Amino acid sequence: MANNNKSIHGEWSSRFAYILAATGSAVGLGNIWKFPYITGENGGGAFVLVYLACVVAIGIPILIAETMMGRRGRQSPINTLTTLSTEAGANKNWHFLGWMGVIAGILILSYYSVIAGWAIAYVIKAVFGGFSSDAAIVKTSFDDLIASPWQLVFWHSIFMIATMSVVMRGVRGGLEKAVQYLMPALFTLLIILVAYAMTTGEAYFQGLSFLFKPDFSEIDSDAVLIAMGHAFFTLGLGMGAIMVYGSYLPSGISIFKTSLYIAGADTIVALLAGIAIFPLVFANGLEPGSGPGLIFQTLPIAFGNMTGGWLFGVLFFVLLVFAALTSSISLIEPFVAWLVENKGFTRIKASVICGVTTWALGVSVALSFNIWSEFTIFDKTIFNFLDDLTAKWMLPLGGFCIAIYSGWIMQRKHVQSELDMPEQQFVIWKFLISYIAPAAVFLVFLKVLGAF
Ligand code: PHE
Repeated sequence: MANNNKSIHGEWSSRFAYILAATGSAVGLGNIWKFPYITGENGGGAFVLVYLACVVAIGIPILIAETMMGRRGRQSPINTLTTLSTEAGANKNWHFLGWMGVIAGILILSYYSVIAGWAIAYVIKAVFGGFSSDAAIVKTSFDDLIASPWQLVFWHSIFMIATMSVVMRGVRGGLEKAVQYLMPALFTLLIILVAYAMTTGEAYFQGLSFLFKPDFSEIDSDAVLIAMGHAFFTLGLGMGAIMVYGSYLPSGISIFKTSLYIAGADTIVALLAGIAIFPLVFANGLEPGSGPGLIFQTLPIAFGNMTGGWLFGVLFFVLLVFAALTSSISLIEPFVAWLVENKGFTRIKASVICGVTTWALGVSVALSFNIWSEFTIFDKTIFNFLDDLTAKWMLPLGGFCIAIYSGWIMQRKHVQSELDMPEQQFVIWKFLISYIAPAAVFLVFLKVLGAF
């Protein structure tokens, strides 16, 4: 049952290169910007626990499944689904799943890029010594930034240009090498921030107990949906990003083991970010639920206070931008790969088309923080609407379909030969992917939709 398909886009140069790239896709704004603020908005410990349970029981099995499908199909997710469906004797319309992923990728990137733009603005602020140890000044400075349509559009544009220039050069050009240094550096900076958080005394313990002491009265079914959706978002699942990265994965490399490393690294980074941020929130009398601005209103205070804070501040925001960049390229790669395969476009042309589309949508997101803040869709600003639509609904739905597809549609012998893992582990994975993951997503959806 050997898999003879080859990707026309090239392959990762080694197992390590793949782990770095896939970790680059997983670790991003989701871990450092989003995880802390949604944890703050949803009451802390219980939310974190649900999120961790979702990563283990749903996220990791789907991560393995999605990567496996990519490597077996060796094309963009849309074409991979067509190929795999032929192999399995299934309906070719399954490629809709690839299309849904492409759309989700564009929608996510449109707002992801705006937030990454904030991070670039903070690099500049940091360079010019703009961080203060006074929480009120730090907050005003953040409010001023997001009140300015021009600044937001400008930084968003810079980030989109950066994303597209990497994507143009293809998977191996630059990307592999960059991630190799950036990931360890980001990790080190987070450890420094955690060490700083420890100096906040009482607040440090308040922060830890907020994060790790579950109080289930704090969460409702919507919070469970947010936690589950975030498990997909943070691992980069359900829209084809890891599927397309899997399609560049040389045969013979264990998908099971690499997936565990990727999910492990991703979870550790998120928890470290939480441990660094919440003590600062409590030490400065801030609100844990203050929303998307949370890290921008807390971390500068730490940098403003600590010795060497200027350097660390600059480094931290630079690394955050790069972490965002290694994720953003994976968000758009499924569409770029499809345009190259099906329309015969060069990578450059495909990247420009994707970039311009996403950029235009992103402009409306940038304006939704200021001049268009009154404009709502289902009572939500454009930013909130897109974030909810993708992270709460599209990614879990995509993940659900991937679970059904790999658990029920693909032939067991094909799946098994591609995964090539010890029988016992395979049986556990097969059970999780066929029953637990789809049932969990389904039940959470039903509950939130008010079915019971
Ligand atoms: N995982 C990325 C993050 O946490 C975002 C992402 C979502 C990347 C979906 C790819 C696909 O920032």
